[in-house]
Amino acid sequence: MASDAFANYSLAGKTAVVTGAAGGIGTAITERLGGLGATVVLADAVDRVHDAAKAAAAKGIKTKGVKFDVTDSKAVEKVAAELNEEFGAIDILVANAGIAYESNTQDHSDDDWHRVMKINLDGVFYCVRSFGKRMVERKRGSIVAISSIAGVKAVRPELHAGYDVSKAGVAHLCRVVGVEWAPFNVRVNAVGPGYTNTEMLQKVGMANPEILNMWLNDTPGKRLMEPTEIAATIGFLVSDAASGITGQNVMTDNGYSAS
Ligand SMILES: NC(=O)c1ccc[n+]([C@@H]2O[C@H](COP(=O)([O-])OP(=O)(O)OC[C@H]3O[C@@H](n4cnc5c(N)ncnc54)[C@H](O)[C@@H]3O)[C@@H](O)[C@H]2O)c1
Repeated sequence: MASDAFANYSLAGKTAVVTGAAGGIGTAITERLGGLGATVVLADAVDRVHDAAKAAAAKGIKTKGVKFDVTDSKAVEKVAAELNEEFGAIDILVANAGIAYESNTQDHSDDDWHRVMKINLDGVFYCVRSFGKRMVERKRGSIVAISSIAGVKAVRPELHAGYDVSKAGVAHLCRVVGVEWAPFNVRVNAVGPGYTNTEMLQKVGMANPEILNMWLNDTPGKRLMEPTEIAATIGFLVSDAASGITGQNVMTDNGYSAS
C-alpha cells in the first residue's frame, strides 16, 4: 500500500537533540525533524537558542531550548542524563555544532588548532558518548554528526588545516562507532555538506566573487547547497527508512567530492 511506503520515514513519537541549533543548518535540521513528527531539543552555546526554540514552536514543532557548550564534557553528560529522564529516552542525536576560521599552515596558531579540535571533534565525541551510551543500553537509537567536503578533499582557496582534519576525524569517528554499536541497534553516520549558504560560509569568503566562483567551478552542480538539502539527508538517515545504513559518511554536496 502506498501509505506504508512512507511509514518508516516518520519520526512521530521520537525525541531528537540537535546541537548548534541556534541558526544556520541547525535551524533547517530542527524544521525537518520537527516536520517529520519528532520533538526537537535545540542545543547551542548561545542564548539565542531559546529564541530559536520559540520560533520553531511557532511553526508547530514540539521543542525545548537548552544552552550548553559541547566542549564541556561534564555539562554534556549532565544534560544527556536530564533529557533522558525528562523525555523517557532520546532517540536521535544530530551533532551539528561547529566552527570555521582561516589560516595558512605556516602561521597556524596553537590556539586555533586546539579551539577547532575542541569544538568540532572533542565536542562531537562527548555528545556521541553521552547520548549514545543511553541508546546502547536501550538497544535503539540513531546518531548523525556533521562532517564536511573539507574532511574528504583539500578544498580551495580557503585555508584551515585544523578544520579539515577535525572533519575527517568526525567521519572516521562515525565509521568506527557505527561498527562498534551496530550489534546494539544504534546507527551512527556522518553527513558531509558541500558549500552551504549560511553565516559560516559568509565568514570564509562567500561575499567575495572570486572565491565564490572558485567554489562554484569546483562543484559539478554549479551552485551552493541550501541548508534544507543537508537537513533532508539527515531526516532520512535518522529515520527507520535508513535502518540498513551505519558507519557511512553521506556526502550531500552536488557532486563536489565525487569529481
Ligand atoms: N556552511 C557550510 O558551508 C558548511 C559546509 C560543511 C560543513 N558545515 C558544518 O555544518 C555545521 C553547521 O554549520 P553552519 O554553516 O550552520 O554554521 P553556523 O555558524 O551558522 O552554526 C553553527 C552553530 O554552532 C554553534 N556552536 C559553536 N560552538 C559551539 C559550542 N562550543 N557548543 C555548542 N554550540 C556551538 C554556534 O553557536 C552556531 O549556532 C558545522 O559543523 C559546520 O562545520 C558547514
